[in-house]
Amino acid sequence: MKAAVFTAYAGPVEIANVPTPALAPDSVLIEVHAASLNPIDNILRAGYLKDMIPLTFPHVMGYDVSGIITAIGADVTGFKVGDAVFARAHQEDAGALAEVARVKVSALALKPANTSHTEAASIPLAGLTAWQALVDKGGLKDGQQVLIHAGSGGVGTLAIQIAKDLGAFVATTVSARNADMVTSLGADVVIDYKEQDFTDVIADYDVVFDMSGGAVMQDSFKVLKKGGHLVSIKGQDTDELAKKYGVSFDWFFMEPNGAQLTMLAEMVTKGTLKPVIDSTFAFADAAKAYDKLAEGHAVGKIIIDMKAG
Ligand SMILES: NC(=O)c1ccc[n+]([C@@H]2O[C@H](COP(=O)([O-])OP(=O)(O)OC[C@H]3O[C@@H](n4cnc5c(N)ncnc54)[C@H](OP(=O)(O)O)[C@@H]3O)[C@@H](O)[C@H]2O)c1
Repeated sequence: MKAAVFTAYAGPVEIANVPTPALAPDSVLIEVHAASLNPIDNILRAGYLKDMIPLTFPHVMGYDVSGIITAIGADVTGFKVGDAVFARAHQEDAGALAEVARVKVSALALKPANTSHTEAASIPLAGLTAWQALVDKGGLKDGQQVLIHAGSGGVGTLAIQIAKDLGAFVATTVSARNADMVTSLGADVVIDYKEQDFTDVIADYDVVFDMSGGAVMQDSFKVLKKGGHLVSIKGQDTDELAKKYGVSFDWFFMEPNGAQLTMLAEMVTKGTLKPVIDSTFAFADAAKAYDKLAEGHAVGKIIIDMKAG
């Protein structure tokens, strides 16, 4: 089958022929209709995580997939050949930018009927990250105040909507050009991160969701109330600061989770979670799509339409 691969750390993204993944008892094979890109794909390709997540080459890129089940493993229940599904594949199955992807049933959910495959592929990794940060780690509840940094990105656009669905009051940091967009997603307070210092604008919040690390994360402690929660998907080692400010701190890597993805699918079906698509590329242009992702200014998600062209 054809897949978007790299064959060495820091190597280019290329379309190559690779073996079709073998079906496993706990997995399904999916004819991929669409995939989405995530910064982790480029981070892995650069080799920054090679000690933590060693890769074999050629490595097929991508985790987020939407498509149709073509084969079912012996132990799989609850899904059948022909089902339209989406998922964030586990690390050992990674390879979404391919004609066929293998996904464990534990990562799988039925695609919301009111979305296209290109829209559905935008949800899994970013949406699960947002859910796990806000709910599992942050414990965000109805009526609480949350600051979501980088509200215009792949994770941020979904996090704003999930927080609003939970009943929270949402502040977010974006560039001025994206202020109207995040307001349309439900943000209550919009802070221009290039012109304003967010610590001058808000105080005594219950939860902050950080995706930048560094100074942004360290300053975020200042806007939390005592007993609040700082959740980061970028920074580490701030236990001292957490103690000083009397708040909790969590840093984590998101996990695939089919049950949580099914909850997100229900939000999409009822219209409280809308995919936000920056741009859509044909499979042949996967390298260009990854170049765009690397610029770091996507508004929502970058998608590969495997059936275009
Ligand atoms: N630990 C985990 O499990 C996990 C999971 C998912 C993502 N992540 C990490 O989380 C980060 C966000 O992921 P993503 O998919 O949302 O990335 P993304 O879509 O590429 O993020 C791009 C967006 O971030 C905005 N942005 C950048 N710096 C900002 C700042 N200082 N303040 C406010 N907005 C800023 C940009 O806005 P402008 O163009 O206006 O600058 C752009 O809209 C990445 O570093 C990723 O690696 C970690």
